[in-house]
Formats: sequence, structure tokens, C-alpha cells
Amino acid sequence: MPATVIVGLQWGDEGKGKTTDFLAEQVGMVVRYQGGDNAGHTVVWGDQVFKLHLVPSGVLYPHITSVIGNGVVVNPATLIAELDMLTSRGIDVSRVRVSRSAHVLMPYHVALDRANEARLAGEKVGTTGRGIGPAYADRAYRIGLRMEDLLDRSVLEARIERVLPDKNLILASLGAETFEVRALVDQAVAWGERLAGYLDDATWLVQRALAAGEHVLLEGAQGTLLDLDHGSYPFVTSSNPVAGGAATGGGIGPLQIDEVMGVMKAYATRVGSGPFPTELTDEVGQGIASRGHEVGTTTGRPRRVGWFDAVPLRYAVAVNSVSSIMLNKIDILSGIPEIKLGVAYEVDGKRVDHWPSSGSMLGRARPIYETFPGWSEPIHEVRALNDLPENARRYLSALEEHAGVPIVLVSVGPERSQTIERAWRPMRHRPPVAV
Ligand code: IMP
Repeated sequence: MPATVIVGLQWGDEGKGKTTDFLAEQVGMVVRYQGGDNAGHTVVWGDQVFKLHLVPSGVLYPHITSVIGNGVVVNPATLIAELDMLTSRGIDVSRVRVSRSAHVLMPYHVALDRANEARLAGEKVGTTGRGIGPAYADRAYRIGLRMEDLLDRSVLEARIERVLPDKNLILASLGAETFEVRALVDQAVAWGERLAGYLDDATWLVQRALAAGEHVLLEGAQGTLLDLDHGSYPFVTSSNPVAGGAATGGGIGPLQIDEVMGVMKAYATRVGSGPFPTELTDEVGQGIASRGHEVGTTTGRPRRVGWFDAVPLRYAVAVNSVSSIMLNKIDILSGIPEIKLGVAYEVDGKRVDHWPSSGSMLGRARPIYETFPGWSEPIHEVRALNDLPENARRYLSALEEHAGVPIVLVSVGPERSQTIERAWRPMRHRPPVAV
């Protein structure tokens, strides 16, 4: 049975929660491999809506073990609140497992993130304010706390005593709140007591599941264009949402990945600052935003909306070695007379077909569009590709051609049943991508 990575091909919010939920019936384990509570997965389950930030959405299924991998930064307060919320709504959380080596996102990380963003004023990254950058920075600087440390008061005291003076110095200089060692240690000990039963050696859990022939889903948060290495730096998150991140953050080797399913929406959105060449600021964009409910799950910020951009799609397919695609929210485009698709850029008077690694070049990129006639009929009830309006099929074929890999699932509404399935089988060797 395969290990499948689910990865966002845009700026996050592609609907990965629905993809996981859709595939969940056939999998035994879902592993989150990076990010923290900056992510928001919305899963519609009958008449219930679940908004999850840390716990993988597989938790909604009693047969699935939901694993928070070593690559995640865990805010214990958020995790505990989420476990309580799920329990109060009748969901069994006993199969949630948290890697002992995942890093702890501490209250001073949140304070530092917010104070730093405030200082940046007009140069803001537009972070979610959840402390993600400072937590990953401490991990890289080897001064972070890991989840297992929450179980040992003396380790907590030693570590927090060592790091807190520096944190407080910076916070005080930014005019922000400072922290006391004792209060933080007490808080961390309480978190440890509450979470002890969930901590595990996640790498071996995943390896054992694969050895036993279970289908393991590795679920990325955010998206390729927010990747620390491959995204539009510095307007990125501080982890690696790309499929390679599933290996480092999920406890598997690259050759154990059988399929990489890329997830994308039929248009583009972005939250926070940074270049967005196909951004729409007119009423067409406003219409898409309101029909698509494009509001951040974590921050409630309105998402910026634009036409689909095939330039980063081709790049995302390449850097993730995408083998199949789920296309979400094509129903939101119904009723738009003309649909545009970004196919290349013009930069300084020259045509550019490749996603530029240079941030300043991306900032100067003007989109070159192909225009497609739209369709007016609603498509929520369509369950077979051939029943889509001809113009919708034409648009979909164009996306598939740019991607160079098959679109195997097409979502026409938020519910699991509102999905068009094309027959496909997981493949280790993806078709070649034109670069
Ligand atoms: P951070 O991850 O909070 O540090 O934010 C860095 C950038 O990533 C900002 O532009 C955020 O808006 C963006 N970001 C972080 N998480 C998400 C997400 O789940 N969806 C969309 N954008 C996100």
C-alpha cells in the first residue's frame, strides 16, 4: 500500500482538508509534517463544520491514527483546545499521536512574531501572528524545546532560564510583554501532564504502519509558494510544505513516497503580503472571494484573489514531483463570462515562461493571459467529467496540459460527495514534466 503526500500547489488554502477527508476512508494513518497552528483545515462533515489547526483532519475517522510529525511546531495550548473541542463534539481523539521530537511553540514565540511584524510596519510579511517564524528559528538555532521536554521539569527550568533573558530583552526593546521563568515552567509542566499520553516516537509509528502495508497519507499545510526554500521569499512561511518536507518532517525516506497528490483551486488566493501577479482587485475578484468564502481560517483576514496562474503551477509540479492533482472549487467560477488563465509573464519587456526565483523579478512580472469562455450553469450536482459544461471541460483540460499530470479528482462543492472521480491508481513514476 502506498504512502501518499498531499501538497498545496499554490499559496495555501487550496482545500487540502477536503482532499484528505475524501481519501481518508482508504487510509490507516494521516501524518502532518510541517507548520503549526498557522494552518487551518476546514472539513465539512454532513451538517457539521470542523476547523482544525493542528490535529490532522483524519481524526474525524475512528479507523485513522492521526500523527503530528517531528516537522511540526506545536502550540500546546492550541492542541489541548482542539482535542477538547473534538471530544466535546463526540470525536474520539485517543488515536492522536504527537512526535516527541516536534518542537514546542512557546508564548514568547507568539509575542516575538507579533512585535516583529508591528515593527516592520510597511514591510510586513503578513504572518498569521502564531509565532511560527520565531519557533522554527529557535529550532534551527538549537535552543528550542521539544515535546518530550514538557515531561521533565528540570529540563524545562534549565532551558527556559537559558533562553528567556534574550527573549525578554528583545521583547522589552520592542515595547512588548515579557515573561517570567517560573510561570512559563509551571505552564509547560501542566501542558506536559495533559499531553503525556499522546506523545510517541512518530517516526517508528509511521515506519511500522508502512511495513504493515497500511496506506499512509502525509498531509502538508500551507503551499508550495509559501515554502521557505521554494516560495516567494521573504513572503513565505518558515517551514517546507513541499513534498520533500514530508520526508524530513514526517519520518519517511524519499523512496517510500509512492504518490504526490497536488491540490489546487480553480483560481488563486493569497493571504498576507508579497507578489501576486494575477491578483484581481475588481468586482470579478470580489465575486470569486465572496462565492468562494475566501476568508482565512486562522486569522479571519480576507484572502487576496486572482486568476489561476499556470507559471507557478508548472514549477510546483516540478519541485514536488506531483503525480496527480485534485482540482477544487471549479464551481465558484460558474457564471463568470470570461475566465483568464495566466500562462507566462512579461518582465521588463521580455516574455518569461518560468517561475522566477528572484523576488524582485517576480514583483515586476505582468501576467500574460489566455482567455476562456465561461459557463453559466451551476455544477454542484455534476458527478462525471463528461457532464460538466463544455467550457468548464476546456478550462480543465488547459490546466491539465500546463500541469503535465492528470487531474484525477475535481471538487464541485464543499461536501465529500460533491467530487468528480476519475479512475486512477497511485504511481511511483510520474509522467515527465516539460520544463
Ligand atoms: P506565518 O506562517 O504565520 O509565519 O506567515 C507567513 C506567511 O504565510 C504569511 O503570508 C501568511 O499569510 C502565510 N500563511 C501561513 N499559513 C497559511 C495558511 O494556512 N494559509 C495561507 N497562508 C498562510
